[in-house]
Amino acid sequence: MMLNVRYLDPLRDGELIISFYKSLSRQSIRSRFMCVINDVEDCVKSLLSLRPIIYGAYQDNELIAVGEAYGINNAYEVALVVKDEYQGKGIGKWLVGLMLSDLFNRRGAVRVYAYMSLDNIKMVKISKHYGGKVLFNGDSYKVIFDSVNLRLKGIQQLSNTA
Ligand SMILES: CC(C)(COP(=O)(O)OP(=O)(O)OC[C@H]1O[C@@H](n2cnc3c(N)ncnc32)[C@H](O)[C@@H]1OP(=O)(O)O)[C@@H](O)C(=O)NCCC(=O)NCCS
Repeated sequence: MMLNVRYLDPLRDGELIISFYKSLSRQSIRSRFMCVINDVEDCVKSLLSLRPIIYGAYQDNELIAVGEAYGINNAYEVALVVKDEYQGKGIGKWLVGLMLSDLFNRRGAVRVYAYMSLDNIKMVKISKHYGGKVLFNGDSYKVIFDSVNLRLKGIQQLSNTA
């Protein structure tokens, strides 16, 4: 399968991103946002208004995963979701690697963090794989990546035109 990642634009690609999120199962939406969302469109619109960096993973011409990075100074919060039928095939792990590499190696990130629910085994495994420190954060985990614990050996770089 032919996988690639492109940056998506919060304004230009807004409709595409909203329809991607609307195609997800309630379970995936719940895991992504760590709560039940009734109005997905409204929720995604407010995220897009924060102008995150958006990574769109494509298989051939199908958008199959979306990751976002919300930056303040040199710290970025990241989150991602893989389309239901593509989960468990290594795509989340691959996309997190690309996002971390882009943020640390090209955008000068000092710290990248993510939140996930306590039952999100796959996301915890991915986080540990890349050297993230997994911390209890009340009823969720907070994972912190910094340049000291980061493990990105062998991860490909996103090209400028990706
Ligand atoms: C969490 C998510 C991004 C992971 O992406 P994915 O493509 O499904 O996961 P991967 O196939 O890359 O697997 C990641 C790890 O989990 C393991 N795994 C896969 N399926 C599993 C399963 N059913 N149970 C336990 N572990 C599993 C993989 O083996 C891999 O571990 P490894 O590196 O030790 O081999 C994806 O499932 C998703 O979008 N979930 C809903 C939204 C969400 O939870 N987002 C994260 C919030 S930040």
